Amino acid sequence: MVLRIVKYGDPVLETKAKPVTEFGTPELRQLVDDMFETMYANKGIGLAAPQVAVSERLAVIDPSAGEDPNSKLVLINPEILVKEGSQIGEEGCLSIPGFREDVKRAYKVRLRARNADGEYYETEGEELLSRAMQHEIDHLNGVLFLSHLSLLKRDLIRRKIRKLVKAGEWE
Ligand code: NI
Repeated sequence: MVLRIVKYGDPVLETKAKPVTEFGTPELRQLVDDMFETMYANKGIGLAAPQVAVSERLAVIDPSAGEDPNSKLVLINPEILVKEGSQIGEEGCLSIPGFREDVKRAYKVRLRARNADGEYYETEGEELLSRAMQHEIDHLNGVLFLSHLSLLKRDLIRRKIRKLVKAGEWE
């Protein structure tokens, strides 16, 4: 099922999400499936549970955008272990549609997470995958990519969004 994605302005996006405590349940599997479906339907490469109004530490990522089933990643209660280097690249967010800006991120990250069965695993990513991992883990901490921009750029985007809200174009 494609879920509704909440947009910037909803407090759930700026709330630190709670760890997942129950694994292997039909509810958790359904949520993971629905999150992939929602992400693909919106042509995203990452989606965090708070973006579908579930304040839990869960995110899905697929840098191939559905082309390669082996690139699907489920991050539950993820923790970044190592960050290396830096990269600057354009970033967007399904909760802030229409706005893309350059964001500085670590070039490479190594992380530890659990899968839907609760099994721990470690994985690493570079470039786009690393960027997606950092962006999604930020979401679990209530942090949006806007926080990584200069105050000037952030205020400009906020003003534009306020206008869209007033015009009823930010639902
Ligand atoms: Ni996002």
